[in-house]
Amino acid sequence: MSVVATNVQGKESAGVTPALWSSRFVFIMAAVGSAVGLGNIWKFPYITGQNGGGAFVLVYLICIAIIGIPIMMSEVMLGRRGGRSPIGTMGAVAAAEGRSRNWAGVGIMATLAAFLILSFYSVIAGWTMPYIVEAAKGGFAGIAAEDSGAMFGGLLASPGQLLLWHSVFMGLTVLVSAGGVKHGLERAVSWLMPALFVLLLILVGYAMTTGHFGEALVFLFRPDFSSLTAESILVALGHAFFTLSLASGAMMAYGAYLKKDVSIARTSFTVAIMDVCVALLAGLAIFPVVFAHGLQPGEGPGLIFVTLPVAFGQMPGGGFFATLFFVLLLFAAWTSSISMLESLVRFLEEKGVGRVKAAVGGGLAAWLVGITTVLSLNLWSDFAPLAMFERFEGKTLFDIYDYLTANIMMPLGALLTAIFVGWVMKPEHSAAELGGQWHALWHAVVRYVTPIGVLVIFYFNLF
Ligand code: TRP
Repeated sequence: MSVVATNVQGKESAGVTPALWSSRFVFIMAAVGSAVGLGNIWKFPYITGQNGGGAFVLVYLICIAIIGIPIMMSEVMLGRRGGRSPIGTMGAVAAAEGRSRNWAGVGIMATLAAFLILSFYSVIAGWTMPYIVEAAKGGFAGIAAEDSGAMFGGLLASPGQLLLWHSVFMGLTVLVSAGGVKHGLERAVSWLMPALFVLLLILVGYAMTTGHFGEALVFLFRPDFSSLTAESILVALGHAFFTLSLASGAMMAYGAYLKKDVSIARTSFTVAIMDVCVALLAGLAIFPVVFAHGLQPGEGPGLIFVTLPVAFGQMPGGGFFATLFFVLLLFAAWTSSISMLESLVRFLEEKGVGRVKAAVGGGLAAWLVGITTVLSLNLWSDFAPLAMFERFEGKTLFDIYDYLTANIMMPLGALLTAIFVGWVMKPEHSAAELGGQWHALWHAVVRYVTPIGVLVIFYFNLF
């Protein structure tokens, strides 16, 4: 079958002809680059700590397997079929199915979620830079847990520093985005991801010497269901989407650059498995150190920034490894943030805005919103604008962005995507993209399992 017959690209694609990824490997690396980021190394350990460990990890893994992977396949499939920005893709694919173009709303919500995430992601990613400087100066050598905590506290207390690094990081993101993702991204991710992986293995190796590795294994892998609440199940679900860059246009936008002959199912499995491995390795590297130094697993967003300097400080060659680690974390966050901006930039391009203008404009807007996250960490740390709702009591603006995107917008977007590909799109059309032995199973899952799963989790949280 010819390419023209299997997708809905046509005259109306507004003259934006995307260059395709040069190989399946490059797509995998770009998708892994998007998926692997702060979500795996910063967020996964801290929310696992806050939600009691094993049972949470189990629910997260189940969410990845039965909801995350099918949704990833759906998004890559839709992206390739539509060949446009997520907003354009949803509208065009719906129209080609003879349905309302209002399905573009799913793309709009995704683009908005990615934008909001980018605004605070950039602030957190900025934290890696002062840590690189400190590590390179040898500042972690023999550092005690309290001093590491104080160092992190000092960074958060300084709006000027946070703003500086937030600005630098957003600038880096815009830089690659403006040049076109293929250009800057392809080469960088192909060595970066393997290097990060190796470094995590070294850290896990060190963690084994702390004498608390067994305790960490029990914490991460022995489910204690008494610590599981309805909200932690929602957090696990939201994180499954966040960590795989789903329901936010990233995978759909990257799918648009994917060649027709690449297997979407195999590729999605590969990406998800690599992503999960990085998160679990991060957990195995961090929790032994947490237990060895009497730190609190539930301490929150500072967890790795307080814990890892202590670990590096005791390791032979720790200054070198610490520098390398935070550099790689910065790069991992960078390849993720680029993907967050992509759906908005592509959309603006379709509207006739030049790529550079679109990237600069989108980045600038996200930078501005990001300033409210900077302030949430210090001057506005007591400002809880939604405190009238019990759920948001004590939540700063930063907490609210995180909650809205991961716990509401992404699950809702994924639900609508599942309904679209499961019930609206003709199975022949999805089969033409997904093909092969996986289509029937995938179709049953997105029709029933994914929507029911998301709805049940929503129901128990809202009522
Ligand atoms: N998956 C990335 C991480 O774990 C975050 C990310 C990248 C993302 N692109 C996204 C999150 C788009 C939401 C939307 O760090």
